Amino acid sequence: MAKKTVRDIDLKGRRVLMRVDFNVPMMDGEITDENRIVAALPTIEYILKAGGRLILLSHLGRVKTEEDKLKNTLAPVAQRLSTHLGQDVVFVPETRGKAVETAVQALNDGDVMMIENTRHEDLKGKKESGNDPELGAYWASLGDVFVNDAFGTAHRAHASNVGIANNMKEVVAGFLLEKEIKFIGDTIENPERPLVAVLGGAKVSDKINVIKKLLDVADYVIITGAMAYTFYLAQGHEVGTSLVEADKLDLAHELLALGKDKLVLGQDVVTAKDFDKDSERNIRDKSAIPSDEMGMDVGPKTLENYFKYVEKAKTVIWNGPLGVFEFPRFAEGTKGFAQKLADLNESVTTIIGGGDSAAAVIQFGLADQFAHISTGGGASLEYLEGKVLPGIACVHDK
Ligand code: 3PG
Repeated sequence: MAKKTVRDIDLKGRRVLMRVDFNVPMMDGEITDENRIVAALPTIEYILKAGGRLILLSHLGRVKTEEDKLKNTLAPVAQRLSTHLGQDVVFVPETRGKAVETAVQALNDGDVMMIENTRHEDLKGKKESGNDPELGAYWASLGDVFVNDAFGTAHRAHASNVGIANNMKEVVAGFLLEKEIKFIGDTIENPERPLVAVLGGAKVSDKINVIKKLLDVADYVIITGAMAYTFYLAQGHEVGTSLVEADKLDLAHELLALGKDKLVLGQDVVTAKDFDKDSERNIRDKSAIPSDEMGMDVGPKTLENYFKYVEKAKTVIWNGPLGVFEFPRFAEGTKGFAQKLADLNESVTTIIGGGDSAAAVIQFGLADQFAHISTGGGASLEYLEGKVLPGIACVHDK
């Protein structure tokens, strides 16, 4: 059923609590990827323009020690948001108490404030992550309505999403959550076919349930990236020093049988002697990988074969890189594939699952060529598995 969104509620003069996922990567206190902040802007701007009094909540990292607490402050995020909005974002370096309440009372229509990292509450006994009912009720008491736009956190049932929602009369989605539901949720439920799923990345073990779900839902499932080598081993090929999960061989056999009409694997690979950006690059048939070489990328025949599948697709879901794209010498497969999907963007709806494949298309400068790049990592994977995510379930139906 469709979820209510910010379009469905009155905002003017109301205190709007909004959960965002501003868990952005930081290095020495500097934001290194602001994607999640930019992705939340449409909802924030909409609420402010409508005269809402906005109170933002987010977590940042995991807070287990006093040191984590000091390191994981949202102050730089509030500052960056303020630059994007061209207006002050009042930052309160507390998660509850007088300072927070005074700042809420001081809000005028169209003002925005942000409280400190919700996971600072975890130092007092996992109050945020454990969905402490008293904390959820307290945060809820600060607002009149609740907007959840934190897709990246939707697989968690924490006090700042589910806890607040349990205590509010009006709980709606922001535009980002709405878009994630439309592209991932609706595709899994009712895809425009042919649907081709492309699953790469390092480990089969991380993606077992996604592979199984997509073998059920998709028309074709391309298994690529490092995890393909466990499948090559299961097919009886020697894979040299490639990364494999020997304990997942039985599972690979099971999936090969289960997906015998749907599973697409490679023919050739790019190998190197060392996991090094300058290591010599060799193209090998997958049946002829020398014992002292490891797979680093897909080969040209494999890539051409993938192209045939995506050319015929109406929808592509892509999660996980094809090779070690962080090293330019071994990025050709991932880059070539991303470019191909970008070229097909008139005829194919491409959904990029979050994490590394999102990082890859951003690195290649192709981010605006796709229908949707998910802001979720773990959340995208669980959503692709077909799970009900608590952060979505708690939003009221239309
Ligand atoms: C993420 O980056 O995947 C989300 O923000 C959730 O973070 P978590 O895994 O620490 O809960």
